[in-house]
Amino acid sequence: MGKTRRKTGTTTPRKSRSPRPVRKLKFATDWTYSAAPESTDHVRLESRYGLFIDGKFSEPRSGRYFATISPSTEKKIADVADASTADVGRAVKAARRAFDGTWSKMKPSERGKYIFRIARIIQERAREFAVVESMDGGKPIRESRDVDIPLAAGHFFYYAGWADKLPYAFPCRDPKPVGVAGQIIPWNFPLLMAAWKIAPALATGNTVVLKPAETTPLTALKLAEVIQEADLPPGVVNIITGAGETGAALVNHPDVDKIAFTGSTEVGKIIQKAIAGSKKKFTLELGGKAANIVFEDAAIDQAVEGIVNGIFFNQGHVCCAGSRLFVQESVADDVVRRLKDRMETLIVGDPLDKNTDIGAINSKPQLEKIREYIQIGQDEGAEIYQSSCPLPAKGYWCRPTLFTKASQSHRIVQEEIFGPVLAVQTFRTVEEVIEKANNTPYGLSGGVWTDKGAKIFKITGKLRAGVVWANTFNMFDPSSPFGGYKESGVGREGGLHGLLPYVNLS
Ligand code: NAI
Ligand code: MG
Repeated sequence: MGKTRRKTGTTTPRKSRSPRPVRKLKFATDWTYSAAPESTDHVRLESRYGLFIDGKFSEPRSGRYFATISPSTEKKIADVADASTADVGRAVKAARRAFDGTWSKMKPSERGKYIFRIARIIQERAREFAVVESMDGGKPIRESRDVDIPLAAGHFFYYAGWADKLPYAFPCRDPKPVGVAGQIIPWNFPLLMAAWKIAPALATGNTVVLKPAETTPLTALKLAEVIQEADLPPGVVNIITGAGETGAALVNHPDVDKIAFTGSTEVGKIIQKAIAGSKKKFTLELGGKAANIVFEDAAIDQAVEGIVNGIFFNQGHVCCAGSRLFVQESVADDVVRRLKDRMETLIVGDPLDKNTDIGAINSKPQLEKIREYIQIGQDEGAEIYQSSCPLPAKGYWCRPTLFTKASQSHRIVQEEIFGPVLAVQTFRTVEEVIEKANNTPYGLSGGVWTDKGAKIFKITGKLRAGVVWANTFNMFDPSSPFGGYKESGVGREGGLHGLLPYVNLS
């Protein structure tokens, strides 16, 4: 990729109170970071992957394969199997056999040992997982290395600890596993979502059929290798690849007892309809349109960093992304100015480069969707600002984009874009911002920036959102529950709450 140009901001320096003569600060605009790509030599990838069913990889009955590409190079990385309804049937059968035969009968502390083992192997192979995640999905290596992979291991560690303590999680309720869980995950946090789904299911004695997203199947298939290495009894975890049809076949399979889905609200609704009237339990983690609220008394530079983290890092491919910014009128110009300066310094490019802030958009259709929304924003009359960073010639890229003069009725304010696009609105009072923030069909997350604790409590109590961060954004921990209100979903994952969907209580 050569050298990446990094411009510093154009902010005028504050006046110094020092009695010494004030040295005029000079801001260089032309220094660069040399490319610092993470090596890929240590990564072992097959050219073709089968389906992981009953403890081993096998050819799909369908005989079909499809390519997974790197969105930053548009080159094929590997072929993966396209599971048919018959393949889904094989996987569910293996999971049922493992449930009845071994896993549900195993001593809980033994189950815990297997899950701990998975966690440790992920840690040992963390570097390889991080590189594959960035190659297949386009996210910056800094994010997959520092966030996705450690958190995925963390989830296995956390739930391994619960395996033999379930009576304490549900006192006097005799928790029993539900059976076979069908789990469908998206492309924005591929390994992490697999961990969110698999770890609590195993800890509570269920067996699993997991389907990763069609654009990011590789870390799930690598996880299948880890599961083999951890010597889990065959059939306890089955990993099948395919697109929407494979997902639908899993949802509709009569021998699946629970569906766990993370993805678009549109597909979430299809799933809810498909299983209505059946005995299947379900959890749905769907879209979001989080309000990030900045008050005049906030630490502004810190807030600007939180805004950038909330919407631009990970290309805005985050269901809880802070995509709606509300700034108190008195500081709005200042915040927007500093935000633009900071946007100018963000590096968009090679996901494997350690300096990269914003990687590749996950797929061509997703890039087209984001571009469509950027056009809609302009047509609606909002004022656009994009950073001037250079973009690589090949691959799917989007500059960080800011819309000011946005209003509540704009589609860029109401609809989930799932890209690095931020819509800014202003407010005067606490009541006004609460009303505006809640005026959305979604309710997954939110953020508030202020130095007044009382204001934090007032806002967090009134925002209709599952997670609200105060003076930070997008922070996760395996022990805290996550999930939405309204069209953002049903049920909670993570923490003690995340065990509940996987047990029947007497
Ligand atoms: P999607 O909801 O279609 O895909 C998520 C998963 O569901 C994938 O594994 C997919 O193969 C599977 N799937 C698709 N159709 C299915 C069906 N009928 N039954 C069962 N499983 C099915 O999301 P997509 O098309 O990749 O992205 C579209 C939009 O959805 C994005 O632009 C974004 O706005 C939103 N999205 C939200 C996510 C979140 O975490 N909330 C994650 C991914 C996408
Ligand atoms: Mg891919």
